[in-house]
Amino acid sequence: MWTYNKILEYPVNIKCTDPRLAKVIISQYGGPDGELAASLRYLSQKFGMPDQNAKAILNDIGTEELAHLEMVGAIVHQLTKNASIEEIEAAGLGPYYTDHGVDVYPQSAAGVPFTAAYIACKGDAIANLQEDLAAEQKARATYEKLIDLCRDNPDVLDPLKFLREREIVHFQRFGEALRGVQDKLAEKKFYMNCDNMNK
Ligand SMILES: [Fe+2]
Repeated sequence: MWTYNKILEYPVNIKCTDPRLAKVIISQYGGPDGELAASLRYLSQKFGMPDQNAKAILNDIGTEELAHLEMVGAIVHQLTKNASIEEIEAAGLGPYYTDHGVDVYPQSAAGVPFTAAYIACKGDAIANLQEDLAAEQKARATYEKLIDLCRDNPDVLDPLKFLREREIVHFQRFGEALRGVQDKLAEKKFYMNCDNMNK
């Protein structure tokens, strides 16, 4: 179960609308390397982990990704909520506005709606954790591209930099989980020889 704190993990207070930025940042809401995919990937994979530490790490990070989803949603919302129709059209958000207004809808920057195909659950703990390590690097790289596109808007840059830092921490923790699972799977198994038992 979860408890909900009525604060964002890191504050988001954007003073100026900028639908151009919202159009690309939404990729971290519902895109292939976004926070929705990350949270569902980890919270689904945790059930199949062979040790408690790996389960706990997936649970912790999956939960934090939900908090990041909320932050990204807040950024997109604040960047668009007071935008004029002219600004929305100039940002190329006319088709989005047609279907969703200025609600926050899970899609990539290219407009592809969220799909569960972004969530890898391979039935193999090592493969899943390797996938998670790559996912964290891809999320970090995406935030770096968004920071490039953001240029000099500190209201948006600060939370994006915070989110980028957290991806690096997650990568390190998944490395710890992978080493633990590898050790667990490498443990030697000892079998009693039944012939000897009867002597
Ligand atoms: Fe992450």
